[in-house]
Amino acid sequence: MRHSDIALAIIGGTGVYQFAGLQDIEPHQPVTRYGALSGPVRVGTLAGQRVAFLARHGEGHSVPPHRINYRANLAALQALGATRVLALNTVGGITERFGPRVLACPDQLIDYTWGRISTLSEEEGTEVLHVDFGEPYAPTLRARVIEAARAAGVGLVDGGCYGATQGPRLETRAEIARMRRDGCDLVGMTGMPEAGLAREFGLEYACLAIVANWAAGAGPVVDEVITLEEVLANVAAASSGLPALVTEM
Ligand code: HPA
Repeated sequence: MRHSDIALAIIGGTGVYQFAGLQDIEPHQPVTRYGALSGPVRVGTLAGQRVAFLARHGEGHSVPPHRINYRANLAALQALGATRVLALNTVGGITERFGPRVLACPDQLIDYTWGRISTLSEEEGTEVLHVDFGEPYAPTLRARVIEAARAAGVGLVDGGCYGATQGPRLETRAEIARMRRDGCDLVGMTGMPEAGLAREFGLEYACLAIVANWAAGAGPVVDEVITLEEVLANVAAASSGLPALVTEM
């Protein structure tokens, strides 16, 4: 089934397994040429607009970052008629402006992941794609996100560099120190290959990063241990403004 009127597709990350405010939801699980997606795509209505939601790790958080079928997830959203994808990514903060509970819309990324299928050119016989990726996130969609946050009165940092790590373990302090030297402000495990594949699919794609914790050694307490409870509590608190923000998009 195709919903050519889907205004926005949202991919939820760790701690965001459903989208508050989405009504009249119908689940869809399209079959894609890339195999199974993480779970059902829930298409519903938010403030009169059709919005699709997919939990990236599955609704029970059972799929680790390196095992996510990023191609199938994006193919399914596109098959349902989505052209714009807002990726919610739970991250750690590295630099000063990106402390816990901050929302950010990064404008750059560095990919440190490995061994993930990261292109639609993977299969033999498919066209080799060398898509432009100088601006990894769609400036048009970023501008919408930033304007919507302003209109909704939701605090959002405009810009920043997202570093995508392999996970599922968290990083060492030395790795975070290196990422800081490289210019990363945020660290997460799912930003790539998703953003690159979205570009290959021709989707308009932006990231809305939810800072859950200071990355290893980055906060005021250098030897602080990062716990899942802390991550989930901060994501829940920081996510409260998301329905209002998306309503303005
Ligand atoms: N590192 C990587 N990914 C994350 C983190 C982190 O500190 N917090 C939430 N996702």
